[in-house]
Amino acid sequence: MINVAIIIGSTRPGRNGEAVARWVHDLAATRDDARFELVDLKDFGLPHLDEAMPPAMGRYELPHTRKWADKISSFDAYVFITPEYNHSTSGVLKNAIDFLYAEWHNKAAGFVGYGTLGGARAVEHLRLIMGELKVAGVSSQVALSLATDFENFSALKPAAHQERAVCAMLDEVIAWGGALKALRDGTRPPGLDARI
Ligand SMILES: Cc1cc2nc3c(=O)[nH]c(=O)nc-3n(C[C@H](O)[C@H](O)[C@H](O)COP(=O)(O)O)c2cc1C
Repeated sequence: MINVAIIIGSTRPGRNGEAVARWVHDLAATRDDARFELVDLKDFGLPHLDEAMPPAMGRYELPHTRKWADKISSFDAYVFITPEYNHSTSGVLKNAIDFLYAEWHNKAAGFVGYGTLGGARAVEHLRLIMGELKVAGVSSQVALSLATDFENFSALKPAAHQERAVCAMLDEVIAWGGALKALRDGTRPPGLDARI
């Protein structure tokens, strides 16, 4: 069974992200085909990237980087809960992603966006970032509208169809997260380029 992190991509006081993440986690916890854990960036207190060596070198010197790397490397797949800030994901989530490199490789990811247009533009940016980090983003995604899935833009009240969207996204994350295990543990399918 694979381990899936549900990452809260906002640390703002009064954030909507925490309620969204808890809702996704509650739905995920009813499943028995994967283990799920909420990962809150607030618990890691990462400063702006302050490692001297690029993350691709894998030479982390600072305790906060090592703690974050240990947490992220323990998962097979991720669900990113992302707000939309100025048509992109949050700076705090981008910074947390940038801290690491190999820990993300050959994993799967699903996306839950929220904003006036369901966080769609934030998720598109996140997909590009994930591509560079060898994370396979699944196509089914959850797009929560601040206008119709929240009351007063702040109390999460998702429309009924959104539960089905979460379920479809998780189905794909679990399938792809499992399928990529061969790359993670080095047992590549025959014919796959050994340089990957
Ligand atoms: C700095 C900032 C920029 C924002 N820009 C956008 C935007 O471009 N598009 C959008 O749909 N919502 C935008 N919003 C609204 C957020 O999507 C909304 O406030 C959401 O609840 C933010 O997530 P959070 O509450 O978890 O921090 C912005 C909010 C902030 C704080």
